[in-house]
Amino acid sequence: KVFLATAFSSTSPKEVAVLKDCLFCIDDKGIIDRIVHPEHDDYDSILNEYVNTHAFYKIDEGSYLLPGFIDLHIHASQWAQAGTALDIPLHDWLSTYTFPSEAKFADLDYAKLVYEDVVSTLLANGTTTALYFATVHKEASVLLADICAKQGQRGLVGKVVMDLAQECPDFYRDADTQTALQDTEEFILEVKKIAETTKQGVYPVVTPRFIPTCTDEVLEGLGALAAKYDTHIQSHCSESDWAHQHVQQRFGKNDAQALNDFGLLQDKSVMAHSNFLSDEDAKLFAETGSAIAHCPVSNAYFANSVIPIAKFARMGVDIGLGSDISGGFSPSLYDNSRQAVMSSRMLEDGVNPDLPTEERGVKDSRITIAEAFHLVTAGGGASLSLPIGRLEEGYAWDVQRIDTTIPTAKLPLFDPDEPLLDIFQKMMYLVRPENIRDVWVQGELVHSRN
Ligand code: GUN
Ligand code: FE
Repeated sequence: KVFLATAFSSTSPKEVAVLKDCLFCIDDKGIIDRIVHPEHDDYDSILNEYVNTHAFYKIDEGSYLLPGFIDLHIHASQWAQAGTALDIPLHDWLSTYTFPSEAKFADLDYAKLVYEDVVSTLLANGTTTALYFATVHKEASVLLADICAKQGQRGLVGKVVMDLAQECPDFYRDADTQTALQDTEEFILEVKKIAETTKQGVYPVVTPRFIPTCTDEVLEGLGALAAKYDTHIQSHCSESDWAHQHVQQRFGKNDAQALNDFGLLQDKSVMAHSNFLSDEDAKLFAETGSAIAHCPVSNAYFANSVIPIAKFARMGVDIGLGSDISGGFSPSLYDNSRQAVMSSRMLEDGVNPDLPTEERGVKDSRITIAEAFHLVTAGGGASLSLPIGRLEEGYAWDVQRIDTTIPTAKLPLFDPDEPLLDIFQKMMYLVRPENIRDVWVQGELVHSRN
């Protein structure tokens, strides 16, 4: 396939490349084989070769391509309760709303209903890759991987492990430690089998919910399983004061250190939130290649804090964005990108004009919308150690077409000479699902909106 389009891609945390009127040549595997700029000698010959074939896609004027977004932390099962109970503390929210809601996924018909809807909703919002928490149920978790495979989304799916009786209700936890580990191993093997049938890949993820709901034995066993099968790992780390202190009291150390001791921090680890990492913890993340899934909307509700993301990025930690449905209410990573910028500005805050010598906030915390775009594309790809999130040779053709001319969601573009980087910023701030007209994953069209 060859696409003729103007596209944007993050080349570094602060820089966005404008790929104006380029030819994007996609191979049979859905990988970008070549990007040919109009100045290149081959441009006209490639154009002439493809222009009248059905392998040629000319993107209309007023439409632009962005890489598909990467959701580094989402509870697929919690889609059923998104937008509710955001006004109570994390511990109460888990026990009174979330655990009963997740327990319903023992019913596979119910699971199918919710999981098909969340996958298609994410695709409609431009999310081409998602790192999912499912529930403790093995069968329903395999079903989520199967639904990702069928809808063409690159899903990384975890069967949730929670086996510590003191912190988990009887109606919702793994039967016992051995069963939790055995179910996880069987889950890994079943998802690997599903993956063989897909072009885009689906991946099993080792998923201890978080230290407070897991026994030492299960954490150790999960670290060993991840090593044995070379899987991704995900969990929650230092999210709230309550969770952070729980780990301190149990182990006399921070979450990050404890997770590392169980073999759970490695190159393919993604830890949600990680708000209260010390500098030592952040160094451990950088050294092990572990990534942070920054969940800015959720953090406003359940963490009551803003993570100093700019500082951790400067320390060399891989960072991407997560919606954290349903700790965060929005399935849109546009909304989360906007909140990431706004939260970072509130953390920085600046100087009180009445007290000009007194700095408020944390210096050098601000991020720009280009940096948020980096998090939600290239940063997410680096966090997962997958060749996704950039429009460069060797990367997957995971792309969203943004139509800025939709009558009900038109972008304010009045000047015919508007600089393309200004159009990019307007898209990041103003795009709604109506503007996301086509979505491709690994070269295949997986969503279209008329
Ligand atoms: N910590 C443990 N489980 C959860 C969850 O489901 N959501 C959030 N936000 N934090 C958690
Ligand atoms: Fe979460």
